[in-house]
Amino acid sequence: MKLFNIKFVYILLIPLAFFVFIGSTSEKSIIKTLEKSGWKAPPEADNLKNPLKDLEAATEEGEIIFNQHCAICHGENGSGDGIAGIGLNPRPADLTSEEVQKQSDGAIFWKITTGNPPMASYELIYSEKQRWQLVTYIRKLGQN
Ligand code: HEC
Repeated sequence: MKLFNIKFVYILLIPLAFFVFIGSTSEKSIIKTLEKSGWKAPPEADNLKNPLKDLEAATEEGEIIFNQHCAICHGENGSGDGIAGIGLNPRPADLTSEEVQKQSDGAIFWKITTGNPPMASYELIYSEKQRWQLVTYIRKLGQN
């Protein structure tokens, strides 16, 4: 009788432990997704000033880099509909949206520099000047 009871406990507890485990992982992934969709630059980033603000040449350079390396995910007009972004979680941001455009140049620069998976960090890929060119171009995308 005692043996039966122990078996019974196992039969009950193992599936229970399994469901608790599954439950906790899916909860974690939900929290992670929420955290990601609320990606924020640190307040200090707002102090960074764009040395190339509104400069025509910088906008043109930024456009070239953007079309080569960013449009694949963010789409050519920046609205987040690039072919490589379809299966990503979170989806590539709509760079023309108010959500993005209301951020400071410094915050956008910080995000391009730091990245946030699935978006890569561009710190080692582009010089500071090129990253500011991208910020300047993103402003133009916001006006279109
Ligand atoms: C692999 C696809 C991919 C590529 C390539 C990519 N991005 Fe992103 N980008 C993303 C995703 C996904 C997010 C959303 C990340 C998040 O919210 O955590 C994002 C977010 C951003 C944001 C932040 C928007 C916000 O919500 O504040 C900026 C700015 C940005 N990308 C600029 C760029 C620039 C500039 C390039 C090219 C140098 C680039 N991205 C290349 C996928 C990509």
